[in-house]
Amino acid sequence: MTEKASLQLGETTIELDVLTGSEGEKAIITKPLRKTTGFVSLDPGFVNTGSCQSDITYIDGENGILRYRGYPIDQLAEKSNFVEVCYLLTEGKLPTKAEYDAFETSLTRHSLIHEDLKRMFQAFPLNAHPMAIISSVVSALSTFYQDEYDPMNPEQVRINTHRLLAKLPTIAAHAYKQSRGQPYIYPDNSLSYSGRFLKMMFGYPTEPYVVDEDVERVIDQLLILHADHEQNCSTTTVRIVGSARANLFASVSAGISALWGPLHGGANQRVLEMLQMIKDDGGDINKYLNMARDRNSEFRLMGFGHRVYKNYDPRAAIIRDSVDKVLTKLGVNDPLVNIARELETRALEDSYFVDRKLYPNVDFYSGIIYRALKIPTNMFTVMFALGRLPGWIAHWKENLAQGLPIGRPRQIYIGENVRDYTKLSER
Ligand code: CMC
Repeated sequence: MTEKASLQLGETTIELDVLTGSEGEKAIITKPLRKTTGFVSLDPGFVNTGSCQSDITYIDGENGILRYRGYPIDQLAEKSNFVEVCYLLTEGKLPTKAEYDAFETSLTRHSLIHEDLKRMFQAFPLNAHPMAIISSVVSALSTFYQDEYDPMNPEQVRINTHRLLAKLPTIAAHAYKQSRGQPYIYPDNSLSYSGRFLKMMFGYPTEPYVVDEDVERVIDQLLILHADHEQNCSTTTVRIVGSARANLFASVSAGISALWGPLHGGANQRVLEMLQMIKDDGGDINKYLNMARDRNSEFRLMGFGHRVYKNYDPRAAIIRDSVDKVLTKLGVNDPLVNIARELETRALEDSYFVDRKLYPNVDFYSGIIYRALKIPTNMFTVMFALGRLPGWIAHWKENLAQGLPIGRPRQIYIGENVRDYTKLSER
C-alpha cells in the first residue's frame, strides 16, 4: 500500500502520497496541493523542496557520502579518469572498452573550436573575468550549430554533448592565454583530456611542452571530484533553462553564470583571497573567526559550510590528502597552506562552527592545489566549471528524458493591493 501523509487544513484532512527513494529518502508529493486546496508550499531557496527524481548522484550530507550512479566518489577519484566519469554521468553507465575508446576519440577529435569563434576572445578587455568569457563563448558556440541543436533529437544531443565536453577546455585555455597576451595553443590530440588542457594553458608555440604525469593526474582527479553534485544552484539553473527547451549550449552557459557566484563555485577564488587577506593582515586568525561569528558582519569563512553536507565534505577530504603530495612533489612551500590548516583546526574546535555543523567544503583546499599548479586565482572557478560540465549535461538530459514540465515556481504576493494610477504631474 502506498504510504500517505495527512495534512490538516482547518476541518479538512488532505492525503498526500509519500515517495521513497532507492536510499530510503522520503518525500511528500505536494504537487496536487494547489489544485485540491488552493494552497502552495512556500520554501525560499528550495531548502526542503525536491524538484525531481534523479538517478545520477546520491549525497548523504549527514554522513559525508557522495556517489555518481552508485559508485563512491573515493573509488572513482582513485581508479577512474575524468573521460570515463563523463561517460558514466552522461550515458548512465560505465563504458565497455569499445564504448570508452569511441567516446575518448570523439572528445579528442572535437577539441578544436571554429577559427571565427577565436576572434570573440579579442573583444573582451584584457582583464575580463574568464567566467564571463567562457559563459559568453559557450553561448556563442550555439550559433555554429544552429541547425543541429534540437533538444529532442537524441543524435544531435549526443554530438553536442561531445562537442561541449571537448571544447570547453580549449575555450578555458584560450581565455587564459588572451588575458596574458600570449598566443593560443591548439589542442594536441596525442595527449589525454587533462594533459591537453595543461598544454593549452601552459605551453608556448616556441618550445616543446612536456606534461608532468603527476600534475595531469591531479587535474584529472579534481575534475572528477567536481563532476556532479545533484541539484545545486548551477545544475538547477541548467535544468530550469533546459526545461524551456533551450538548447544545450544556452543552458550550460546559464549554469556557468550561476556557478560564478561567490556562494557557489566562486567560493574557491574567495578562499584564496581570504587566506591572502589574513596573511597580509599579520596572520591573525582569531580576528577572522570573530568576524565570521559576528552577526553584524557580512564576513563568512569562505570554503566553510554547505547546504547539504553537515559533515566533512568527502571531496574536501580527498583534496586535502592530495595537497601534501602535490606541494611536496612540486617543491612548493606555501604560507597560505599553513594558515588554511590552522584556520580549519581552530574552526573545527569552535562551538559556533561545531553547533552549525560548518565543515570545510570542496573549495577550501582546491584553490591551494590550483595555486601550486600555477593556475591563476581568477581561473579557479573555470576549473570548477570544466569539472561540473558532465553533471550539467547529465541533468539537462535527464530533465528532458523525463518530460518534466517547464520550471515555474509559485510565489506568495506581499505587495500593494490594487490602487489607481496617478499621473506623473500629480505625484
Ligand atoms: N562562515 C560563517 N558562518 C556561516 C558560514 C560561513 N562560511 N556558512 C554558514 N554560516 C552560518 C550562517 O550565518 C547561519 O548562522 P545562523 O544560524 O546563526 O543564522 C548558519 O551557519 C546556517 O547557514 P546558512 O546560510 O543558512 O546555510 P546555507 O545552507 O543557506 O548556506 C552556504 C550554505 C554554502 C551558502 C554557506 O555555508 C556559505 O556561505 N559558505 C561560504 C561560501 C562557500 O564556501 N561556498 C561554497 C559551497 S561548496 C561548493 C559549491 O557547491 O558551490
